[in-house]
Amino acid sequence: MDGAFEERLKDMQVTGKITKDFLDYILHGMSAEERETLYKTARETSQETFGKTVYLRGLIEFTNYCRNDCYYCGIRCGNRNVSRYRLTEEQILNCCDKGAELGFRTFVLQGGEDPYYTDDRICGIVRAIKQAHPDCAVTLSIGEKEYESYQRFYDAGADRYLLRHETANEEHYAMLHPENLSGAHRKQCLRDLKKIGFQVGCGIMVGSPYQTTGHIYEDIIFMQELQPHMIGIGPFLAHKATPFKDEKDGSAEQTIALLAVLRLLFPKVLLPATTALGTADALGREKGILAGANVIMPNLSPSDVRDKYLLYDGKICTGEEAAECNACLRARMERIGYKVVSDRGDHPDFMKG
Ligand code: 5AD
Ligand code: FES
Repeated sequence: MDGAFEERLKDMQVTGKITKDFLDYILHGMSAEERETLYKTARETSQETFGKTVYLRGLIEFTNYCRNDCYYCGIRCGNRNVSRYRLTEEQILNCCDKGAELGFRTFVLQGGEDPYYTDDRICGIVRAIKQAHPDCAVTLSIGEKEYESYQRFYDAGADRYLLRHETANEEHYAMLHPENLSGAHRKQCLRDLKKIGFQVGCGIMVGSPYQTTGHIYEDIIFMQELQPHMIGIGPFLAHKATPFKDEKDGSAEQTIALLAVLRLLFPKVLLPATTALGTADALGREKGILAGANVIMPNLSPSDVRDKYLLYDGKICTGEEAAECNACLRARMERIGYKVVSDRGDHPDFMKG
């Protein structure tokens, strides 16, 4: 390697920008040696802010009912073969209690867009969790809502909101979603959430059908404008009961390379090594952390519903209990020299109020 690659990485860090050509080179052309250099640079950048620590987010998949029909998603309403479930407030609180005992300080309530959970119900659940666990952050990941609803969730005590934008390109968005959904509305939701005061997370699937480097470049431009606190990315993985059943899976390697790029462009962002990455590659989460990611999101859902929340085929950890994943992940992180911490793990620049 002649040093030019390292220079370009430095340039990315200094300017906070990447060219479409260099992004394409990183995703499709770099050598094994350059890949190592990229990962090392991203890892060191992450360590400058976060040290060798990893934050935990306990994921509670509280409903797999969804009114939407996204072409990629296993729990789309058009999939009649899903056994649908909803967790009660009591079940959700039990998951949080168990999680808190295991050292979790963030709970992510994720679900399909399920009209059963009215704003009143969501607010009630958020308040109950915050009352039982005032030292914990509550993250919602329940899709597109009205500004007023988001404001109510925030006022009830929700701290963060995850809403992947999926793709910043309108045409690409339309290839992944039915007509009633628009990329413009999704982006507006993210801007609304940020304005209200949530720590927000956006993100994409890497290798989603029809995705080009140009699309990923547009995603980066959108993120630079939004300045999210978190960026969730994972490989697209086909689900057998969706229109995309025959589409090619996204690659773990490209996902990891993009994680590293995002770390260099957004040095302080919260960046999970996702379950989808751990599904595409058995050591995907470890590799993600070693390429600049700093968050892991283990499942806290009750074990009897875990195999019903399948967005893609092959999902890992559907047979494990919360305590098992917790112990497994702590050991996995220690094996690579990292430590899982019991900390809310807010964005370093974030202050609520
Ligand atoms: N493969 C990978 N990720 C998926 N998601 C949904 N379906 C799939 C799939 N088939 C992701 C979407 C969504 C998040 C909750 O999960 O990006 O926003
Ligand atoms: Fe679930 Fe390893 S993380 S078993």
